Amino acid sequence: MKTQVAIIGAGPSGLMLNRYLAKHGIESVVIEDRSREYVESRIRAGLLEAQTVDLLEEIGVGDRLHKEGLEHHGIYLQLGAEKVHLDFADLIGYSVWVYGQTEVQKDLDAACDKAGQQIHYEVTDVALHGVDSESPSVTFTDKDGNPQRIDCAVIAGCDGFWGPSRKAMPGADVGSFERVYPYSWLGVMAKVAPSTDELIYARHEDGFAMHSMRSEQVSRLYLQVDPDDDIANWSDDRIWDALAKRMATSGWELKIGEITEKGILPMRSFVSGKLQHGRLFLVGDAGHIVPPTGAKGLNSAANDVRFLGQGLVEFFKKNDASLLNRFEERAKETVWRVTHFSWWMTSMLHTSKNEFDNQLQISQLKHVMRNRALQVNLAENYVGIR
Ligand code: FAD
Ligand code: DHB
Repeated sequence: MKTQVAIIGAGPSGLMLNRYLAKHGIESVVIEDRSREYVESRIRAGLLEAQTVDLLEEIGVGDRLHKEGLEHHGIYLQLGAEKVHLDFADLIGYSVWVYGQTEVQKDLDAACDKAGQQIHYEVTDVALHGVDSESPSVTFTDKDGNPQRIDCAVIAGCDGFWGPSRKAMPGADVGSFERVYPYSWLGVMAKVAPSTDELIYARHEDGFAMHSMRSEQVSRLYLQVDPDDDIANWSDDRIWDALAKRMATSGWELKIGEITEKGILPMRSFVSGKLQHGRLFLVGDAGHIVPPTGAKGLNSAANDVRFLGQGLVEFFKKNDASLLNRFEERAKETVWRVTHFSWWMTSMLHTSKNEFDNQLQISQLKHVMRNRALQVNLAENYVGIR
């Protein structure tokens, strides 16, 4: 196969980039090691920044989001039984959207189908070659067991944290940063109407709890647990009891329903030393990971797609590589902002085994709950205005 851009990974980064490039008349081929059904049903992010929504609209996948997504104008912050509402509309005049990553993925897949864009699912043996040259290539074995090669001008590594692209980038490890947090999230999806109008981020002495949602009928909830905890230790009753206790406020009641999915997720911050080398570029989770507390992962992937997309349009349409050469510099500015914000939200809201840290966190959270300037700061970071 011959194309302009080989895209490894058909998650949100890979398909947003494919659609962005297609809109500008640039060809790409996408390969993915999982099945389409698996990728579409992978439960992950749920919150979209205004700029992510803008990008999805720009690439032609904003219609269902606007019909079925929920526009949110703020969040609740809670410390013990004290709860405050941060009104983003009042603080900074922006909003965010609750719309599941599963739905974004389905919309992107449908747009690819409509455009006749083939995606090669269930490939194996993916390898990158000649990333220092002007004509790199990607080899793989297709679903039917046939060896394949994509000759291209650029490779976009959109293959998540564990994919092969970062490993194929010479020197990417140098200057990489990683922090693994001493807690994990137990996440559940439940068939029950949300018990709140806006997302709740609660710090309780038993640990963090969060109430999000996917629709008027489906709630998404999270609990801080130990990283070595086992989901088998958490019966549905135990989960509901812990959520109700950690988010309790006077007069508020948690609605209980059928839990349809549950799992424990580790939490890490990671920034790759390099996001570009020769003709290879790392996009989204392939180049950086944040803990989920600030809801930044999918949104910073969208940010990378915009920067790489703009660089590639100049490169292919005007034969000008200057913007493409600045991809890493442009992307990293946002990456470090969201890395700081996610670390800050995470450390402020999770209980620690160190009592000094706990006291600092409580003091910081109280300050945010009472101080408008700090609320403006939180809102700007959360909504992602840049
Ligand atoms: P991925 O989604 O990981 O996609 C990479 C793709 O590459 C995958 O489909 C993978 O199968 C494929 N791949 C891997 N190896 C290969 C290979 N060898 N060959 C071909 N393909 C390969 N972010 C937010 O913005 N807001 C949130 O509210 C939020 N909540 C989250 C909640 C949870 C529980 C989790 C786990 C994450 C959350 N995130 C959130 C983060 C967000 O889901 C990720 O940042 C996002 O999925 C990144 O997209 P991506 O396309 O870069 O990577
Ligand atoms: C969701 C996850 C988050 O990490 C967050 O901060 C907000 C929402 C969610 O899955 O809905």
